[in-house]
Amino acid sequence: MANLQLGRTQFGDPANSGRVLTEAEALQLLEDWVPNERLRLHMRQVGALLKTWALERENLPESEAHKWWLAGVLHDADWEKYPEEHCRRIIQELETRQIDPTVIRTIACHGPRHFGVEPESTMEKMIYVFDELSGFIHAAALIRPTRYEGMDVKSVLKKLKTPSFAAQVNRDEINDAIGRTNLSLEEVIDFILKYQIPA
Ligand SMILES: [Fe+2]
Repeated sequence: MANLQLGRTQFGDPANSGRVLTEAEALQLLEDWVPNERLRLHMRQVGALLKTWALERENLPESEAHKWWLAGVLHDADWEKYPEEHCRRIIQELETRQIDPTVIRTIACHGPRHFGVEPESTMEKMIYVFDELSGFIHAAALIRPTRYEGMDVKSVLKKLKTPSFAAQVNRDEINDAIGRTNLSLEEVIDFILKYQIPA
């Protein structure tokens, strides 16, 4: 396993505050960097959940919610082509493109154990919360004949307690992420079931 520690906790330049990629630019970056359609879907799912959370739960304006979306939609951009430089590469790219530092730091926070950057802001905590859990819920939906339709919190909790199901999803990481917020696991699962992009 490659050492993915970033070795720093500050990212971007505060002078670039408010500078973002447009939706079209971000999706183009995904097209260029991420050939795997499933991975692109995962990234769009995390982006959509973050944006909806920003709007619905944090009551943030559209311009702020766009930053949440951007961090989510780009967080794994370098995972497929540059696994040895995962996180580092996309951070470099966004720093070069002079993107808002809060977007870059949020991306750096999506795996504290891997990258060594502790989530501090709500945006940073929520990317960590949604990343593994939304992937897990998607895996659970894929094996159901009706997919997301009729899926409930209880069945997701049950699957989480079944170690053989989606064994690659780290339950400790899910619990660690939730534990850094004042949210319950049930509440977050409920939100994901409500707003996840189905496919
Ligand atoms: Fe991810």
